[in-house]
Order: sequence, then structure tokens, then C-alpha cells
Amino acid sequence: MDGNGRWAKERYLPRVLGHRSGLKAVRKSVEFCHQNNIQFLTLFAFSSENWRRPIEEVSFLLALFQKSLEEEVAKLDKNNVRFKMIGDRSKFSTKLQDLIQEAERLTQDNTGLTLTVAANYGGRWDIVNAAKQAALSGHVELSEDVLSQYLQLQFAPEPDLLIRTGGEVRISNFVIWDLVYTELYFTDVLWPDFEIKHFYEALSHYSGRDRRFGRAGVDQEVLSENTVDP
Ligand code: IPE
Ligand code: MG
Repeated sequence: MDGNGRWAKERYLPRVLGHRSGLKAVRKSVEFCHQNNIQFLTLFAFSSENWRRPIEEVSFLLALFQKSLEEEVAKLDKNNVRFKMIGDRSKFSTKLQDLIQEAERLTQDNTGLTLTVAANYGGRWDIVNAAKQAALSGHVELSEDVLSQYLQLQFAPEPDLLIRTGGEVRISNFVIWDLVYTELYFTDVLWPDFEIKHFYEALSHYSGRDRRFGRAGVDQEVLSENTVDP
């Protein structure tokens, strides 16, 4: 969800008001997924590198997260949404950690949209953390299957589509393990301007992709062993 700061700057507003507007775009996207039977939505809200921002901005973002949990979890629950958080929550205040835990507990049996917020999340941290957890659980030999069980997104299928707003064409330490076969979609639209029509544009782009997962394409002629020139 990139572009909040620039959205505010364009309007001669403080950056934090861009984040406040960004929250409205979050609500719209969550509602869109809920109404269209999209089962997993994962939002990159705060990266492990975002602590490098000015203290006022970091405090504002954490306070916004806390306020959203306080005010919106009951509604999510009513709409059968399962809430999850991925990332290192140990750096958050006890109050925020409690709210996250309570939101996850309250909504754990819901069967609709799984809404995951990535906060203090980094893709490299996730992989190292998974390796540590696997070792602590007694795994001596690591394999892809073993590691996958300890990754933060182990409860979700691998993402089909990544949408990055704000014009940058990079992953910025998002869920790097899980994204290997994800279709990537980049748009210049700044996150607070991201409307339902933009979501449709991204989905329409996605539906035109040919997902092969490393296999040959359907039209590709496959040579049988006998026809291969040794
Ligand atoms: C939102 O956009 C990302 C968050 C950390 C919440 P930015 O704050 O990165 O906005 P730009 O890139 O400065 O426009
Ligand atoms: Mg940015």
C-alpha cells in the first residue's frame, strides 16, 4: 500500500493525513474482497524497515493500527472475516499486542475472507524466523516443506496476485518466499486513490496471465525422448 506520503504532499498536507486517507482505501478493498468472495487479502502496512521513519510518523501509524483494531474488529467479525497479523509483534506495545491477539482469537473460526495485516514484517526475517522455529522444534534437516510450515503465511495458499500501488516496481522485502509464482501488478495510482475500479483493472490484468508454474505452455510442442537428437 504505497503512496500515502506523496498523496498528502500533492495536497500540501502532512504525510500522516495520507496514512489516514490510506485507511479509507483499506476499508474499500476489504469490502470489495468480502463482496466478491476473494478469500485471502494480505496488506503490507508496516515493514521492518519503516522504523527508520521519523518517530512522529511511526507513532502515528502504530496509533492508527491500534485505533482500527479497537473500532473495526467487531464489524469484521460480524462479516465473517478472519483477522490475522504477520510480522514480529514483540516490538509493539503490550496494549497493541493484546488487541491483535484478541482480534485473532475472536475471529479465528470465521470462514469468509482472511484479512492479514503485515506489520513489522520483513520477508527475510520471515525466512530466518521459520528456520529458527523449525530448529527449535527439533528439525535437523531443513527442506522446503519443513520450512513452509513455519513461515508466517503457513495458514494461507501462496498468493495469486500482488498489487503494488504508488509506481515503484519492487518487492521491498514483502513475502519473498511465498511470492515466487505470484503474478505481479504495479500501478502508478497512489494508495489513497486506489478505488474499486482499480481493483477490477488489476484483476482483469491477472485473468489474462498464463500461469505455468515452470511447466511448458499448452501450445508448446513437447519433444518425446525418441525425437531428441542425442
Ligand atoms: C504508505 O505509503 C506505506 C506505509 C508505510 C504505510 P508511504 O508512506 O510509503 O508513501 P510515499 O511512498 O512516501 O508516497
Ligand atoms: Mg513509500
